[in-house]
Amino acid sequence: AGLDKLTSLVNGLSLNSVTEKYPQAHPEINPLDLYRAHLSNVLAGISGVDTQIIYPAINWTTGLDKGDFVLAVPALRIKGQKPDALATKWAEEFPADDALFDKPTTSGPFMSFFLKGGPLSNSLIPLIRNLGEEYGRNRFNGMRDPKDPSQGKKRIIVEFSSPNVAKPFHAGHLRSTIIGSFLANLYEGSGWEVVRMNYLGDWGKQYGLLALAYEKYGNEEALQKDPINHLFNLYVQINAEMTAEKESIEAQKKEGKDVTELEAQCLDEQARRYFKRMTDREEDVLQQWQIFRDLSIARYKETYARLNIAFDKYSGESQVSEDAMAKIAVEMEMKDISRVDNGATLVDFTKLLPGKEGKRLGVTVIRKKDGTALYLTRDICELLARYETYKFDHMIYVVASAQDLHLKQLFEIVKQLGYKDIADRCQHINFGLVLGMSTRKGTVKFLDDILRDCADHMHETMKKNQEKYAQVENPVATADILGISSVMVQDMSGKRINNYTFNMEAMTSFEGDTGPYLQYAHSRLCSIKRRANLTDEDLLSADLSLLTEQHATNVVRMLSQWPDTVQNTLKTLEPTTVLTYLFKMSHAVSSSYDHLQVVGSEKELMKARMALYDAARIVLANGMKLLGLTPLERM
Ligand code: ARG
Repeated sequence: AGLDKLTSLVNGLSLNSVTEKYPQAHPEINPLDLYRAHLSNVLAGISGVDTQIIYPAINWTTGLDKGDFVLAVPALRIKGQKPDALATKWAEEFPADDALFDKPTTSGPFMSFFLKGGPLSNSLIPLIRNLGEEYGRNRFNGMRDPKDPSQGKKRIIVEFSSPNVAKPFHAGHLRSTIIGSFLANLYEGSGWEVVRMNYLGDWGKQYGLLALAYEKYGNEEALQKDPINHLFNLYVQINAEMTAEKESIEAQKKEGKDVTELEAQCLDEQARRYFKRMTDREEDVLQQWQIFRDLSIARYKETYARLNIAFDKYSGESQVSEDAMAKIAVEMEMKDISRVDNGATLVDFTKLLPGKEGKRLGVTVIRKKDGTALYLTRDICELLARYETYKFDHMIYVVASAQDLHLKQLFEIVKQLGYKDIADRCQHINFGLVLGMSTRKGTVKFLDDILRDCADHMHETMKKNQEKYAQVENPVATADILGISSVMVQDMSGKRINNYTFNMEAMTSFEGDTGPYLQYAHSRLCSIKRRANLTDEDLLSADLSLLTEQHATNVVRMLSQWPDTVQNTLKTLEPTTVLTYLFKMSHAVSSSYDHLQVVGSEKELMKARMALYDAARIVLANGMKLLGLTPLERM
């Protein structure tokens, strides 16, 4: 639907001819590809440059005022001629009666191209309304062979969130959750098979300590009711006890007392022994541990659901087998990657890698003197096991930049082991800190607390406008979604690597580029549709050539950029690429309201404008869902 209106305007521009000539073009999901193809054809005719050189040199612009496309003439690498002069010459020769483009403008060596509003509205609005949720998705990107769908999809593992059981869910986990879920959605929408994986911190001596705490003070009922809080409280309590005990032993030591007996019986030693039983896979202790883990996961799932996240796999440090780790230790020694030093096993990167890189990676322990494996050891085995199981084409670790070194060491060891092809498929997506994240009830403990606090704050903000508040059907549920949107949009506003300051006041505001603003923009579009009360038939039969105003053209031009924006996001892997687009687009829509009234206009005009706003609503909803937000229809 829609595209025939474009192809019929230009001689020889059939969909088949375009996709044959430009294999990277997919006009049926991205109409701008058709425009690029046409532009390449025309410019090739004028300049004599090959279409295959021109097509990839046609870039998007930073703003509508700079055109829809820009061509930097020097990018064509024409020898012996001045780019400025060529740009001017080609612009003059560009046909004045082109069906799709106005005559180009130039600035130095740059040529700017503006799409004609009429044909674009006529083709794009029906296409968007027809594709619906699919508009912006690109099933070709994830295909093993874009020409042969039967070859199947590429597979990606996105590992994200990965909190530690019985410990606080901190800002690093929050960011990993938000960014990771977005990346998973992005790849899924681009035709990849996505495995969403959560790698829990659920293993180590401290979990032996936790199990001890449960034996001493645990409460079955409290555990069932709120496992995350109960385990956390136990953990805090036993840790305090252990610290006090250590201090007391130290003090007695100083006084010259014999503390051998005390040390053999202390909590730390008990925890070590308990954890040893866990790693020995003793039935009863493992069963107990399984209960903690299962209950915690059940609770995590509820919270993730509020963020529209469902993991395909809950992996975790506890799932790495001791056998695999013993095996890899032998392999590393045999391949001279590690050496034993004073009973512990080390990897010395300064010996493995010459120069700076080796220095940067330093020396790290793989196995402690007492034989226990470490975080890094587990990650090595886990990575290889994931490859065995999933044969992934790509794997992304969404982890704070505080662990840059850890992941570099991980990938390097896997490479040194001889699995370069696997290491090359792995990527660390990092991010900066959140500063000053605390709730009014103190420092943040759990994801639920963060979300609840934002929802509460949002609820108060909403109450400030009593008139509007009275009209909201379900204020609590609405505040909840708005609160979540606030946190997420604030997190995704800047580049991932930047730190930002958690600012409850700013992020819950309806003004500025915030989550509530986006939600407001969406629900306003929904409200216009409700009030216009037109049928689908009405919208289908709308005469879109009535959309002559510059404001209408600008909105359609913005809407045409959505598939390109998603493609670009696959390169940047930055949520802000999507967010920046959505704000620009929403601003174009909101500044058009005064000029393009729907309700109150004459019927035909009403139909055409409603079709335009309906397309805008679809694009905004698609973008919000890609980010992981739940678009509100009323608020
Ligand atoms: N649980 C870890 C932490 O809280 C994050 C895990 C990151 N993923 C990994 N494969 N190491 O720091």
